[in-house]
Amino acid sequence: MDKIRIVGGRPLKGRIPISGAKNAALPLMAAGLLTDETLTLNNVPRLADIDSMAELLAQHGACLAREGATLSLTTPTITSTVAPYDIVRKMRASILVLGPLLARCRTASVSLPGGCSIGTRPVDLHLSALTQMGAEITLDDGYIQARAPQGLHGAEIVFPLVTVGGTENILMAACLAKGTTTLVGAAREPEITDLAQCLVAMGATIEGIGTDCLRIEGRERLHGATHRVIPDRLEAGTFGIAGAITGGDVELVGAQMESLRAVAHLLDTAGVEVTETAEGLRVRRHPDLARARGVDVTTQPFPGFPTDLQAQFMALMTLADGASLITETIFENRFMHVPELVRMGASITVHGSSAQVRGVPALKGAPVMATDLRASVSLVLAGLAAEGETVISRVYHLDRGYENLESKLQTCGAIVERVKAAPQHDAGGFAFGQADR
Ligand code: UD1
Repeated sequence: MDKIRIVGGRPLKGRIPISGAKNAALPLMAAGLLTDETLTLNNVPRLADIDSMAELLAQHGACLAREGATLSLTTPTITSTVAPYDIVRKMRASILVLGPLLARCRTASVSLPGGCSIGTRPVDLHLSALTQMGAEITLDDGYIQARAPQGLHGAEIVFPLVTVGGTENILMAACLAKGTTTLVGAAREPEITDLAQCLVAMGATIEGIGTDCLRIEGRERLHGATHRVIPDRLEAGTFGIAGAITGGDVELVGAQMESLRAVAHLLDTAGVEVTETAEGLRVRRHPDLARARGVDVTTQPFPGFPTDLQAQFMALMTLADGASLITETIFENRFMHVPELVRMGASITVHGSSAQVRGVPALKGAPVMATDLRASVSLVLAGLAAEGETVISRVYHLDRGYENLESKLQTCGAIVERVKAAPQHDAGGFAFGQADR
């Protein structure tokens, strides 16, 4: 398996282009199953998760073509309504085909995503909402067997807790259901707004976009469309924190303040300036401060501080002047980066869902192990700021969510390189064809 080697201690300075958002592109790709016409998506990042979704959609009958950052999907007929375990286990977002398949074909069989390193992550809310829309659902041999012989119908769905994937799945299903569906307590993440806007371009009628109450008028069919994926706020937040932790000065080209307000506010409190530029956002530690200040943070659904930037913010806080209490409210067991940061010299104590971080003057490079996507990138950030060499193993986690990570950091002066492992026998994934890669 590949490793990433970093020699830390250099301030990041320069411009970093922000890629299209993985978490927007994945549901948008699943939405392609809702129509027999072509859905063309621009600004699609090249990531392992995108390849996994492409592989899944191809085996449902989608024809996919990629040219640069443009991906087009056409599914004239659904050739299989089964989402097999072998693909679903690689990526939890595979559950997003359930709503579209059921809505279009009245039947779907999707492997349960199973546990995950950041908690149990059930899909009960997806299933109960589809049941309220007329689906009959059973769990057999690890598969969700869903049928709606009369088709799905509209319903008022009240989500008892905010679920991003649940909102996306039901939003897509509701577009082809009979009648009106109301989603109360819907997630408001920018990726959901992006999906809703694409669905509208495909002929859907959706009111309340951007709010926690979505009203969808079902249509008999949707048509093709062309849509541009929004910039990745999580990638932008990650590189912004990379600039801050190294005492650098970075411009995140394409990043949007609107999707990062809570993060910018917190960084500002910590002594890190985030300002809008003509092309994106500029992030730098306040020139009068030698270290960021310790501040408390609690993760929340959008527009609050995102759980997907918690690990990165913790890395920043390990080197802050003062203490910080970091509380994770979205996922249990999302502190797996803590022992690795501690191995680099951080002072962190976990009490249940909170981590007390006492800032130290310096971190020391060490061999560390990535455990999930955001945890791994927090180790990259710590490595960039640490004294000496850090080697991060299991970097396939990073390849799931960060496009050209090393080269983007290198252009800003970081010493970072990928140490290639011998080629694996089972490469897996979806091949778009040599010319396109
Ligand atoms: C999505 C994001 C992920 C992000 C998360 C929260 C994608 C591909 N992934 O994940 O990066 O960290 O939102 O912002 O967009 N829950 C239930 N029952 C359900 C569904 C969820 O109890 O049926 C719980 C989960 O266990 C979790 C919380 O709700 O504790 C939020 O999960 P959810 O918003 O659904 O996350 P994902 O869509 O999986």
